[in-house]
Amino acid sequence: MKILVTGGAGFIGSALVRHIIEKTSHQAVNVDALTYAGNPESLGQARDHPRHVFEQVDIRDRQALDRVFREHRPDAVMHLAAESHVDRSIAGPSVFVQTNVTGTQNLLEAARVYWSELDAHARRAFRFHHVSTDEVFGDLGPEDPAFTEKTPYAPSSPYAASKAASDHLVRAWHRTYGLPILITNCSNNYGPYQFPEKLIPLMILNALEGKPLPVYGRGENVRDWLYVEDHARALRLVLEKGLPGRTYNIGGRCEKTNMEVVTAICDILDELRPVTSDESQVTKDGDGLQVTSDTSRVTRHSSLISFVPDRPGHDRRYAIDDARISRELGWRPQESFDSGLRKTIKWYLDNTEWVDRVRTGEYREWIETNYGQRGAVSTL
Ligand code: NAD
Ligand code: DAU
Repeated sequence: MKILVTGGAGFIGSALVRHIIEKTSHQAVNVDALTYAGNPESLGQARDHPRHVFEQVDIRDRQALDRVFREHRPDAVMHLAAESHVDRSIAGPSVFVQTNVTGTQNLLEAARVYWSELDAHARRAFRFHHVSTDEVFGDLGPEDPAFTEKTPYAPSSPYAASKAASDHLVRAWHRTYGLPILITNCSNNYGPYQFPEKLIPLMILNALEGKPLPVYGRGENVRDWLYVEDHARALRLVLEKGLPGRTYNIGGRCEKTNMEVVTAICDILDELRPVTSDESQVTKDGDGLQVTSDTSRVTRHSSLISFVPDRPGHDRRYAIDDARISRELGWRPQESFDSGLRKTIKWYLDNTEWVDRVRTGEYREWIETNYGQRGAVSTL
């Protein structure tokens, strides 16, 4: 298959392209505008592989998309390009509507026109796989059952609303025009190459630099964490084996409060990168003479935890019921949270050059916008 992947220079998209190149014989046409969140370096060795082609194209540009379809003639589309950070959507929602809603509609139309001109066999085999989020379902109370594919949509943030709108457009293109679509709704991903505006990489890097670890509210919100390579494997399976028109929920079977996540990061860093501070103590000996002794004290990374004002409209809990993808396609997460988090932390320790290159002036501006005015409410 030749697969047109949008957003393939982002966190999940690059993991998917690496998976396609390393684990399959498919080709990948990588369409990405390279916003602040996109970085071709995240593709690793897949970047220069003969089965990978990169097209720097914005999905808001319909003509450019038509050209890509005409030139590359893909067998399938996997659509991941999006504005993806909830806090940025609160600070500036417009680009979320432009990329996530209008961009998706452009891509659907470009795909539909191309698909409608294929021969009958190729039309039947074609797939448009839309990669979406569990945030379209809103949030859960502590005792509510996990989200299923039948849970009604109730998005809370501008980001979640824009993703919900894009899901509706994709279903409408199936029902109205017969485009063979697939939708997946996934929970929180973590792993290597995640842009350090998201919880886990932000906390790892702040902790390493001895900066405050800004936990929103009381850190009691719950997320269902999935290692990114497990997600890439699920996406490939859905594309190859999923039923057209169907939705599949993907999750990590791993609910954790934010405090549990941040504490786990601190504990692993205490082990891998212990911080000690030298202290001089002055005491008196038996003759009343002053004695100076130097001691080394271990400082725990968790002492950096700092509670800051909450995210507006903050969803309390997400949890995915993955019964459908597990029963119908035989998928289940393979990575445990402890092993996945260790791998992730080691990756950030070993890849400081990647980190330095993505933390540009734009990144520093965002950190100032989001955290500058918050200020700490309290510490542990
Ligand atoms: P990301 O922000 O890391 O990457 C997004 C990519 O899209 C970047 O490479 C960026 O350059 C590209 N992009 C943005 N606007 C574009 C445009 N107008 N035209 C072309 N390319 C554009 O995002 P991610 O975390 O990898 O998420 C990928 C997808 O998966 C998104 O659709 C997101 O909604 C969904 N998702 C993410 C998670 C998660 O936990 N990160 C969970 C479930 C679903
Ligand atoms: O559930 C899937 C979604 O997961 C994806 O659709 C989004 O693209 C992805 O960004 C993610 O959204 P979240 O808002 O859950 O992820 P984030 O990493 O921003 O925050 C995770 C939790 O941590 C959330 O409850 C907010 C909290 N948080 C986040 C940051 C950045 C903090 O307490 N402090 C922070 O500094």
